[in-house]
Amino acid sequence: MELIRLDRGWELALREFLLSLTRGGDDAFFQPHAADVEAIRKIIADRRKDEYLLLVDGGEVYGYGLLRGWDEGYEIPSLGLAIHASVRGAGFGRAFMHYLHATAKHRGAKKIRLRVHKNNAQAIRLYRSLGYALEQDGDQPTYLIGFKSLAKAGVS
Ligand SMILES: CC(C)(COP(=O)(O)OP(=O)(O)OC[C@H]1O[C@@H](n2cnc3c(N)ncnc32)[C@H](O)[C@@H]1OP(=O)(O)O)[C@@H](O)C(=O)NCCC(=O)NCCS
Repeated sequence: MELIRLDRGWELALREFLLSLTRGGDDAFFQPHAADVEAIRKIIADRRKDEYLLLVDGGEVYGYGLLRGWDEGYEIPSLGLAIHASVRGAGFGRAFMHYLHATAKHRGAKKIRLRVHKNNAQAIRLYRSLGYALEQDGDQPTYLIGFKSLAKAGVS
């Protein structure tokens, strides 16, 4: 497995990964953007500072991590992450989170933000264990919103 930046040539594999999440019912928890190839091509063409990262092996996508918000002018990036159901529970989700934290910190972010559905027990457990303080999202009561500070020495 390796982490790479989403680029031309990965549109079909990413679409397949996103469709696999839909088939597994995980699109209720993770639906960062439309899954069609045109939408993915537009992201690749338009992104400037935002990060779209893939966990890949043998031409297939096994994980997708995002840090977005910089391109819209926000200082605090919003994190998104999904791991393919076939490789969950092996530690890739946690490892990917550490990579996203390090990337955000390297870019000068002081905090990271994320939103998680209240029923998403696995993700909530992962985020709490990584130091996210989760609170009810005032705008959407079925979601929790969380922040993690990156300002102190070390990235946990
Ligand atoms: C949440 C998700 C990214 C975790 O990925 P993963 O690769 O399975 O995670 P890891 O193997 O690194 O496990 C990390 C932690 O997740 C939690 N976790 C993983 N599997 C779990 C399970 N079956 N039950 C409860 N918690 C679980 C645990 O806290 C675990 O830490 P631990 O191993 O120290 O106990 C993955 O389940 C996923 O992609 N879910 C669907 C998409 C999604 O919900 N994304 C988040 C949107 S906010």
